[in-house]
Amino acid sequence: MSQLLVRGGGCLRGSVTVQGAKNSVLPILAATLLARGQVVLEGCPHLRDVDASIRILRYLGCEAQWEGSTLIVDTAALKRCEISDILMREMRSSAIFLGAILARCGRADLSYPGGCELGPRPIDLHLSGLRDLGAEITDEGGVLHCRAAELRGREILLSLPSVGATENLMLAACGASETTVISNAAREPEIVDLQNFLNACGAKVSGAGSSAITVEGGQSLHGCVYGCMPDRIVAATYLCAAASAGGEIFLRGAEERHLAPVTAVLREAGCTIVSDSSGILCASRKRLRAVRTVRTAPYPGFPTDAQAILMAALLRSRGATVFEENIFENRYRHVDELVRMGAEIQVSGRVAVVTGVETLHGAPVRCTDLRGGAALCVAALAAEGDTHISEIGHIDRGYQDIARDLQALGADIARVESPENSNPDRRQR
Ligand code: UD1
Repeated sequence: MSQLLVRGGGCLRGSVTVQGAKNSVLPILAATLLARGQVVLEGCPHLRDVDASIRILRYLGCEAQWEGSTLIVDTAALKRCEISDILMREMRSSAIFLGAILARCGRADLSYPGGCELGPRPIDLHLSGLRDLGAEITDEGGVLHCRAAELRGREILLSLPSVGATENLMLAACGASETTVISNAAREPEIVDLQNFLNACGAKVSGAGSSAITVEGGQSLHGCVYGCMPDRIVAATYLCAAASAGGEIFLRGAEERHLAPVTAVLREAGCTIVSDSSGILCASRKRLRAVRTVRTAPYPGFPTDAQAILMAALLRSRGATVFEENIFENRYRHVDELVRMGAEIQVSGRVAVVTGVETLHGAPVRCTDLRGGAALCVAALAAEGDTHISEIGHIDRGYQDIARDLQALGADIARVESPENSNPDRRQR
């Protein structure tokens, strides 16, 4: 079983190219079901969740193959409209296939994605929006049966700006007759990327990035060549790593306009951050200071996916910072692991208070979820001594090769195959 072994205490110095965005690629892979013809996805990150999506596409009868970092998908030979329970459980965001299969086949049968390590993961907004478009949906023992002889565009008002529901409805609306307007839509950059991909395939979608998205249905979609956007949460991870360990790094391809809430907090904490069209430079030369309350919120608010990562960066800051998690119920599971490294954190409900300590120390810790795992890497780089991070399969869901990237930034980190061969001579560099 793989672990990450981190020797902390050194500054970071170097540059790295930021991988393609997981949260953009996953809905795009579902969207390939709408296109007749080959889709060529350039700069596609090779991740566990991407592999899970590929397994779903292949199960449905589609072809998907890698050529280096390009993923080529052809969904012409689709032969199934259902997804097995095992495949649905491999990836919590698999519900995104519902709208696409329904639009392509007029029916879809798949099991409920269920809860996850962040707490319950309801899809009621996805389902009510699909019903608004004319789908009949029944739930038989956790299996959803969806039927729509014809999907018909109309106005859909989301009661909250769910990212997944917005994406699912955009896909279903492409297969509907007439026009759909999604109000109170999520505004995340990944939604804009999905719109750009769909339009590159011949769809007529507008408004993404605002709260109202318009989809003119009934267009026939073709294949395209598309480049994936950079992953803003991976970029946030490396910025936070440099902020807390100290040093100066450059993230090639990272876009600050996607990261404004994170870079604003890092500047407040004392970092120097400059960016241009080629990427973001972050320099951190002294102990960070505590910042004003960090409240997670839908985009353009502070991203919930960066909460654990920023918390890890502030563990040795001067003063106390309050975090308020407003998106997911169970998103402080990393706290107990950080405490093992000497952090001082008090959690009460959705609030966590981090009081900066002078030093952190290495410890054996375990990933509790994807971003919680990345947070352990950030903390370990600023800790004295060695940290062994286990259960790193969580990290592999969203980071193509976190050890290689952090090594490029000058970190002493290695992926080791088992605790027995974790001595420095046998590390995989
Ligand atoms: C996406 C991201 C995830 C990120 C999250 C919030 C992907 C693959 N994942 O997840 O990394 O943390 O956005 O930025 O893009 N909700 C309902 N009913 C629904 C749908 C959602 O109550 O039908 C609630 C959720 O429980 C949660 C909140 O809405 O509390 C936000 O969820 P949502 O925006 O849908 O997140 P995801 O699309 O699952």
